[in-house]
Amino acid sequence: MILPYCEPFKIKMVESIRRSTPEERKEWIKQASYNLFNLRSDQVIIDLLTDSGTGAMSDVQWAAVMTGDESYAGASSYHHLKEAVRDITGFEYFLPTHQGRAAENVLFSVLVKEGDVIPGNAHFDTTKGHIEYRKATAVDCTVDAAKDTTNRDPFKGNADLVKLEKVLSVTPHERLGCIVMTITNNTAGGQPVSMANLRGVRELADRYGVTLIFDSARFAENAYFIKTREEGYSGKTVREIALEMFSLADGMTMSSKKDAIVNMGGFIGFRERELFRKASTFNIMFEGFVTYGGMSGRDMNALARGLYEGTEFDYLESRINQVKRLGEKLHNAGIPVQMPIGGHAIFIDAGKFLPLVPAAEFPAQRLAVEIYLEGGVRGTEIGTLMADRDPVTRENRFPALDMVRLAVPRRVYTDNHMDYVAATLINIFGRRESIKRGLEIKWEAPIMRHFTIELDLIA
Ligand code: F0G
Repeated sequence: MILPYCEPFKIKMVESIRRSTPEERKEWIKQASYNLFNLRSDQVIIDLLTDSGTGAMSDVQWAAVMTGDESYAGASSYHHLKEAVRDITGFEYFLPTHQGRAAENVLFSVLVKEGDVIPGNAHFDTTKGHIEYRKATAVDCTVDAAKDTTNRDPFKGNADLVKLEKVLSVTPHERLGCIVMTITNNTAGGQPVSMANLRGVRELADRYGVTLIFDSARFAENAYFIKTREEGYSGKTVREIALEMFSLADGMTMSSKKDAIVNMGGFIGFRERELFRKASTFNIMFEGFVTYGGMSGRDMNALARGLYEGTEFDYLESRINQVKRLGEKLHNAGIPVQMPIGGHAIFIDAGKFLPLVPAAEFPAQRLAVEIYLEGGVRGTEIGTLMADRDPVTRENRFPALDMVRLAVPRRVYTDNHMDYVAATLINIFGRRESIKRGLEIKWEAPIMRHFTIELDLIA
């Protein structure tokens, strides 16, 4: 018998989970204005809101916390991190930031100006937010296969090179701020981008003279998928693949809260000193001096270690297989999920799951609320609420897919927890036709509304 995968770690410390009743949850979600971000974490049984900053650090990372150097300038922790960044990404120049969106803020202060066009595969919401805040336009050139949840293409995170070239060819050169490739493609379902596609994007970037940036929050999971799915890569290590990926970019932003398994942190990597120098001024203004940039020494130490742990094959295999196992349970029960299962999360097609709820009543948010009511499981909407209104017409934007994301934190939950989540979903699926109405908006912010929105259930 082939031995199955198992976690390459054991559990040394545990945190209690409070069980709640459906009646309690009904009251709490109403008080939270049907916005799952407004719940207290102790009102949640299994928290799949995000895989960001929610991972469990290792004993070695915690030990590194104790040896953090809190010097303002030139701390040893900064130099540990600089070495790890160079080792894992190949980037010679780097700036620490307090998280991924801070990296975007600093880098885009140099690269993006009013009227610019920033194409790529799908931009994450804060990335799009930082672009639109600067009155520039983010253009999503993800392959059409990503919109068909049943399509089994192994690289549904790819950019469609024809769409991308069209944008590059019709936009005046001075309006092309940069290209952003998000690896893995979070919005499309944690779907990977192939090396061949990254190479194709690099060729276009060279042909049109545009800077190419990788939004690298889940780069290690992307490298794992290249190793296990793309021809010619099975014999290479995850780290070799990561280096090859990054060799195709001019720079990167990183939310270290994902694949580097820390609770807080981020950074920017640069190939050229010129761009690094320009960004350094903004880093000092927004984040902190260039050798700490919003991170304490102890956190830089834990991050340096996390970059190595997060790129170990055995760890990635157990992590990705845990997510896949949950996704396949749902799929086998007939629940419409984005296939193949992505790296960090299950994406449920709420339009298909709740076909009777009108699109204008936010089926994905309605489903996320129902998942909470049924099992105390917290997911998040990646759909019409998150898509915001069109900045010009102020009409709701209806993305091709209205989805609920169940993001799995790293090294936190067991497969029994995942079985509980599957049972929660399967129970709702059995009675899905009884859910006919969705939600209406009581209050919303003008941009990135889903974080703070207030809603009411339509009876
Ligand atoms: N880029 C991607 C692809 C992301 O998924 C995120 C965050 C960011 C950038 C921003 O990083 O949170 O450190 O400021 N994604 C989280 C999520 C919040 O739930 O998917 P951050």
